[in-house]
Amino acid sequence: MCAGRPYRGGVPPRLRAALGDITAEATDAVVNAANAGLARGAGVCGAIFAAAGPGLAEACSAIGGCPTGGAVVTPGFALPARFIVHAVGPVWSGGEQDEPELLASAYRRSLEVAAEAGAQSIAFPAISTGIYRYPLVEATEVAVRTCRHDAPPGIQLIRFVCFDDATLAAYERELSG
Ligand code: APR
Repeated sequence: MCAGRPYRGGVPPRLRAALGDITAEATDAVVNAANAGLARGAGVCGAIFAAAGPGLAEACSAIGGCPTGGAVVTPGFALPARFIVHAVGPVWSGGEQDEPELLASAYRRSLEVAAEAGAQSIAFPAISTGIYRYPLVEATEVAVRTCRHDAPPGIQLIRFVCFDDATLAAYERELSG
């Protein structure tokens, strides 16, 4: 993939990074770093399930699951966001198991399903960089490149919501590059 590849739509989306808790984001959609079973987890997934309320577990079990690299949408329930996009990033296994392609696909599919649902703004956590152990700098490079180049035309704002200073620093470096 080429870093200089042009944006495929008309006006490119604004990309912003900030410290925060994604459950408080008021973007149209927020992204959950989900597992393939769409079960309640820990990390950002646990926080989203707790804040969204019991309707979320029912909606996820009705969908049933999502492959690694994919994304599905549910309503936001009690969250400020209208939609939750459940994106399944890869578990880091050393980098030889298609992890970069699968992580890029999780971001790309999230943007696509959010745009199909009608979202114009979306907030991402740093998918796969917690429990799934994807190295932060490499994951940030994939996230920013994919969002910069592959967002569908309807998406106008992409926020990277960082839970700690190291994650914010990685995004700020990548966004300014
Ligand atoms: N808001 C924003 N970011 C958060 C929040 C929050 N409330 N809570 C945690 N994070 C950050 C973590 O600090 C990390 O930078 O989200 C990033 C992703 O970490 P994880 O939640 O561990 O996600 P991931 O590495 O993709 O692992 C997914 O964990 O909870 C389970 O069900 C989930 O099995 C799946 C796995």
